[in-house]
Amino acid sequence: VTPEQPFPARIRPGIAALRGSRIREVANAGMGRPGIIPMWFGESDLPTPDFIREAAAEALRRGETFYTPNAGVPALREAIVRYMTRLYGRAIDIDRITVSASGMNAIMIALQALVDAGDNVVLVGPMWPNAADCVRVLGGEARFAILDPGNQGWRLDLDRLESLVDTRTRAIFVNSPGNPTGWMMEAAEQQRLLDFARSRGLWIVADEVYARIVYDRDVAPSFVSLAAPDDPVIVINSFSKAWCMTGWRLGWFTAPAALADTLQKLTEFNIAGPTSFAQWGGVAALDQGEEFIAAQRARLAQSRAIVVERLAKFRRVRFTPPAAAFYAFFAVEGLTDSVAACKRILDETGVGLAPGSAFGDAGEGHIRMCYAISPERVAEALDRLEPVLG
Ligand SMILES: Cc1ncc(COP(=O)(O)O)c(C=O)c1O
Repeated sequence: VTPEQPFPARIRPGIAALRGSRIREVANAGMGRPGIIPMWFGESDLPTPDFIREAAAEALRRGETFYTPNAGVPALREAIVRYMTRLYGRAIDIDRITVSASGMNAIMIALQALVDAGDNVVLVGPMWPNAADCVRVLGGEARFAILDPGNQGWRLDLDRLESLVDTRTRAIFVNSPGNPTGWMMEAAEQQRLLDFARSRGLWIVADEVYARIVYDRDVAPSFVSLAAPDDPVIVINSFSKAWCMTGWRLGWFTAPAALADTLQKLTEFNIAGPTSFAQWGGVAALDQGEEFIAAQRARLAQSRAIVVERLAKFRRVRFTPPAAAFYAFFAVEGLTDSVAACKRILDETGVGLAPGSAFGDAGEGHIRMCYAISPERVAEALDRLEPVLG
């Protein structure tokens, strides 16, 4: 009996070897303590807007408490079609839309559909760790093309990414806008990657859950705009970030119609259909949510401006401002153990941050700060951090 195999009856070794979230490791040390400014998790401090909550409450009152189709309730799929058609200026067929129980659930299902034991997936890193861990849960290998920091923003070397592909590569996983870096892939780069994937018979899994958390446009460049309906592209969206719905666990896939059966089969075996009344909240979010998104974005832009201005003056910090999403991901001079550093900073300042090593080996030496809280609180956090990082 070992820590990895605590029972005589065996757990899959690959699962036993997975490490739990290092963000939670830091947060567990501080959650609930008075006076903490929590900037460790990737969520806003605002609750879901009332009009969305009301729509779900009304669905509950109406008795929307039964199993739904694995593809999602038709009203939500139709709302997704309306929303995406409006946003991307091109018609999206409803057969391409499948509702999921969150972005996370969609990532796992997409990878379950594509990855066998011994296969590999090439991911753009540093990245929020869960997708790579899903690949490992399936017995696959996660390979990383690491972004380069620069004064003009994070940059992806596509030659390097393409050189990681071999005969066991099944998919390229791209999270743009990216967590933790705030990197945003431009349309020309997406087009090149799409051409490469087509020519090599690879899938692109595009995690676009931060599509609306952008500062210089209305929506981030998307594979939805470029991919033909039958291209090997699975785009993943979520209600969590743009509509402050992290606790609802609701998202969706846009994929070739020919993949819908596969996604729905896997939905059956994972969750047997998304939560019924939550989906009615989703309809309201998509149909009536633009004003809320605009207001949220204005608030985030204020917080971002404070972070960018203040961090630039911190002597020990090297920082590439985020083009999108709501994180600052910065290198700290001399930092070799980011988990220990975040715990120390938490003790000394009461500011809760996420350790860079949570985002893969390339993240060590860095710290991530989620600035999706009020500009006043962001300013206060930076005041507190200045003596330790400035
Ligand atoms: C890049 C990325 N993808 C997906 C998710 C999952 O979001 P959810 O499962 O809440 O939809 C997150 C959450 O932080 C994320 O940062």
